[in-house]
Amino acid sequence: MVRGVIHIINPYDPGKFPEDIAKKYGIPEAEVISLSSNENPYPPPESVRKTYEAAYDKINLYPHPYYQELKEGIAEYVGLDEELIAVGNGASELLKMICEVNLEAFDPVTIPIPGYTLYAVLAMLMDASIKFIEFPEYKINGDDILKNDSKLIFLCSPNNPTGNLIPGKEVKKILKETEGIVVVDEAYTEFSKKSHIHLLKKYDNLIIVRSFSKFFSLAGLRVGYAVGNPETIGAIEKIRLPFNISYISALVARACLDSLDYFESARDEIIKERNRLEKELSKFEEIDVYPSDSNFILIKIKKERDFETKFQESFERKGIILRNVTGLLGLEGIHFRITVSRKDHNDKLLDVMHKLFE
Ligand SMILES: Cc1ncc(COP(=O)(O)O)c(C=O)c1O
Repeated sequence: MVRGVIHIINPYDPGKFPEDIAKKYGIPEAEVISLSSNENPYPPPESVRKTYEAAYDKINLYPHPYYQELKEGIAEYVGLDEELIAVGNGASELLKMICEVNLEAFDPVTIPIPGYTLYAVLAMLMDASIKFIEFPEYKINGDDILKNDSKLIFLCSPNNPTGNLIPGKEVKKILKETEGIVVVDEAYTEFSKKSHIHLLKKYDNLIIVRSFSKFFSLAGLRVGYAVGNPETIGAIEKIRLPFNISYISALVARACLDSLDYFESARDEIIKERNRLEKELSKFEEIDVYPSDSNFILIKIKKERDFETKFQESFERKGIILRNVTGLLGLEGIHFRITVSRKDHNDKLLDVMHKLFE
């Protein structure tokens, strides 16, 4: 018999995938545009492909167990000591391990909403006692977070799905006054060009979690890292599964760090498109646009709830997948999250939008 808590956990919803939409609507899979998972539309550069292909010759062997070269690369990228870094199979695995090494049953955990749904799944798995605090549009107020004595506080900046940053002042206040550990999920930090990572110099109850899935275009390879609180980082290194990142993934992630210029110009292209999309979407009377510092935009459709399915299907029929976040804790009314993609993809999105509302 599985543990009781498993029966009450709502599984993480990964959204819809191109294979499924292609099959459902008879569209060639290559023509389906996924704007659902905040992936980077630009694959890594050719230099990274070469590393990937060369790695094939060693896939019969285990990777080096400590991922020293990857950690050195990350340490240089973030400007901090490699002793403070743990690497994992995506940011997801680090979030899971942070819960595993810090939480006992019934420990209080604070999760502001609307937010990333994985935090609750992982905290529940540890039998933690979760306090959700609603902040409309995720405008975090440190005092409200601090009302709850927490062992672990999950913050996300820029936040998924609202797209906004948490002001430094609020993060500092929380770090200064809580006795717990503060996790700041910065999976999308590069799209905002702002980070709270400098706070690690002053506060050792902070852990920053980051991902190679978004800015570095490696969602398919699964690499992430955590930086900060030495006790947690040490504990993660102790309990993580041996060889938790594949040989190819570790090598390719390291190679991506040598191509920063490429990723920065792809990022600038995405930001340009984000600004254009925000402007264009704001022109529709039926839509409220949440200002974004990330590579996605959250919109609210000001229509009756029965419009939700029609809206979603209008896009899927044209081979465009959006993330329907209607009903997410902390959001009221019809909401969709849209990944900012290449100009031609975004134009197709706007085309469907015009046909639907005009
Ligand atoms: C806020 C946030 N944190 C973490 C993750 C997980 O990232 P990874 O692909 O590195 O596991 C995601 C993925 O979408 C995310 O949106």
